[in-house]
Amino acid sequence: MSADKSVLVTGCSSGIGLCVAQELHKHGYQVFATARHKDDVTKLKELGLTALLLDLDDSLSIQNALKQVLQETGGTLYALFNNGAYGQAGAVEDLSRDVLRKQFETNLFGWLELTNLVLPVMRKQGYGRIIQNSSVLGLVAMPFRGAYNSSKYALEGLTDTLRLEVSHTSTNIHISLIEPGPISSRFRANALKAFRTHIDAENSVHRDLYKKLVERLEKEGPSAPFTEPPSAVFKRVLHALESPKPKIRYYVTFPTYLFAFLRLVLPWRWLDNILKRY
Ligand SMILES: NC(=O)c1ccc[n+]([C@@H]2O[C@H](COP(=O)([O-])OP(=O)(O)OC[C@H]3O[C@@H](n4cnc5c(N)ncnc54)[C@H](OP(=O)(O)O)[C@@H]3O)[C@@H](O)[C@H]2O)c1
Repeated sequence: MSADKSVLVTGCSSGIGLCVAQELHKHGYQVFATARHKDDVTKLKELGLTALLLDLDDSLSIQNALKQVLQETGGTLYALFNNGAYGQAGAVEDLSRDVLRKQFETNLFGWLELTNLVLPVMRKQGYGRIIQNSSVLGLVAMPFRGAYNSSKYALEGLTDTLRLEVSHTSTNIHISLIEPGPISSRFRANALKAFRTHIDAENSVHRDLYKKLVERLEKEGPSAPFTEPPSAVFKRVLHALESPKPKIRYYVTFPTYLFAFLRLVLPWRWLDNILKRY
């Protein structure tokens, strides 16, 4: 794959974004690895990557990052990997309007804004790939994940609609969703931080169940069976970038295949009986 294939990746300070940026670089792509903190941008540069600041909560930061990318590429961009996000753990009843809004700012609105800036570039050049890192939690719901679940369900809806609309104007812009199940990363540590910052656990009706939730989020190493490394996601990203006919949805990990299947075949109440244990 030649270096004229430029890819912009969000959320590269850790986990999947970091892995995908490094692997694409090794595969000869012109990678623009982005992170929202200066020290992470410095670390990415030390790894030999072209790195930029991009905070999904900040429109100006999104615009500036894309401007710099386009300056370096002469106005083109082969692909965008929308990835940066976090999980706001906590029961739906304990979510304030502001906390849910914050979850959507990062996990959905930032992605939408960046995508809408990138699409005219792709349309002008006549090709492009947009890859959305969604989740098994964009397909099924689990308790205490309502903020994150709803942001990924919204991403699924927005992406499905976008794909239909883009097909009216371009046959050479492909949009794919990746649906990872458990992947080892900083996701749980960051979810714990968001939980402690935004949820009043002591005064919640769910106080006792929250103890189990905190134990799960505090656990080092894989907390769920069938956890895979970020490279499992990278494999699907590479296919979405290189296949002449990329898939609309890529399932990653056994739990995603399982729940995607169960949701099609089981009555909703049976599915609830399984999902409420998680
Ligand atoms: N790990 C899993 O089990 C799993 C499963 C399904 C889907 N996913 C999805 O995979 C993607 C990557 O998550 P991960 O597992 O790699 O977790 P991670 O290690 O926590 O990485 C998340 C990345 O998103 C960045 N981010 C958070 N808020 C941001 C903002 N406002 N602007 C820009 N970047 C921001 C983080 O930066 P900071 O370091 O600055 O916070 C970090 O670089 C997410 O979309 C997540 O929903 C993960």
